[in-house]
Amino acid sequence: MARKVSMSSRELGLVLAQQLLDVDDLHYGLWDADLPLTPGNIATAQQRYTELLLDHVARLLNAIETPRILDVGCGTGHMLEQLLARGYQVDAVNPSPALNRQVRARLERLPGTQVNLFECNFEALPALPTAQRYDLLLFSESFQYIPLVDIFTISPRLLRPGGHLLVCDFFKSDAHRDGAAGDRSFSGGHVLRSFYEGLATSQFSLQHDEDLTARVSPNIALLDEWLTQRLLPASQSINTYLTGRYPWSTRLLKWLARRRLARLEYKYLSGNRSQAMFEKYKSYRLLVLRLEQADTGPSGN
Ligand SMILES: C[S@@+](CC[C@H](N)C(=O)[O-])C[C@H]1O[C@@H](n2cnc3c(N)ncnc32)[C@H](O)[C@@H]1O
Repeated sequence: MARKVSMSSRELGLVLAQQLLDVDDLHYGLWDADLPLTPGNIATAQQRYTELLLDHVARLLNAIETPRILDVGCGTGHMLEQLLARGYQVDAVNPSPALNRQVRARLERLPGTQVNLFECNFEALPALPTAQRYDLLLFSESFQYIPLVDIFTISPRLLRPGGHLLVCDFFKSDAHRDGAAGDRSFSGGHVLRSFYEGLATSQFSLQHDEDLTARVSPNIALLDEWLTQRLLPASQSINTYLTGRYPWSTRLLKWLARRRLARLEYKYLSGNRSQAMFEKYKSYRLLVLRLEQADTGPSGN
């Protein structure tokens, strides 16, 4: 009998984005002036982002003989594959069954590679004995999904002293909750100010903090155009068809889902999800944190 597979709305969003855009990566891209902003260039922009992270990984690990990395929230495993190709030992943690199927299929195409794929939340990982700890924890657009308190308490139990967190993700800027039109049109991201406050009392020091917002935000303009020029007309055609064909059941379904539909309409189709709003309410950052104090927890031996 086929096993019942259920998917969270967050997981559905990630899988749909990947399928609709036909891409291997689940992160934004870097759009510099030389790269025309077209759907055909999304994969190139994403690869530029990946290469920026790979350069940081190389710089942070170049003095270590056999560096070990944990790719936190590895998506489809595309960056994981590129890390393996550069000779790093990499493990991954990823809670999404749908994405993990893709990661396993990818790994099967790479014979001879030894990757532990932990199919759970980062928060569920147990502390590691010192000899098994990682040199680097990579959070490529997965940081926002993990509570800050867990980042700061669990990471030291997985990292060797002097090891690093490499984080690339968006945060909520100081404009968050100003009540103006467009506030809350983008969900997700930790409050940047809370991150700095948590960092100040953590075992980590901040080694690098780069604002990439302006290089990433063109992505939003592209997605906004795609939503309003493609998805909106397509959903209107489906609505016309269903209302004409099944007027009563369509009306009932729309009434039952009215709150969710109103939220989706505000979020995606009200015109507030623009590049300018992203730049106002989000701050997209590349961060490097260094573990300064060794963890003295139960497994820190
Ligand atoms: C936006 S995708 C980024 C994927 C990939 N790192 C990339 O750059 O393409 C977010 C990833 O974080 C994972 N994720 C969500 N919650 C998580 C958690 N609590 N612990 C670890 N990973 C998580 C998702 O399953 C997904 O793979």
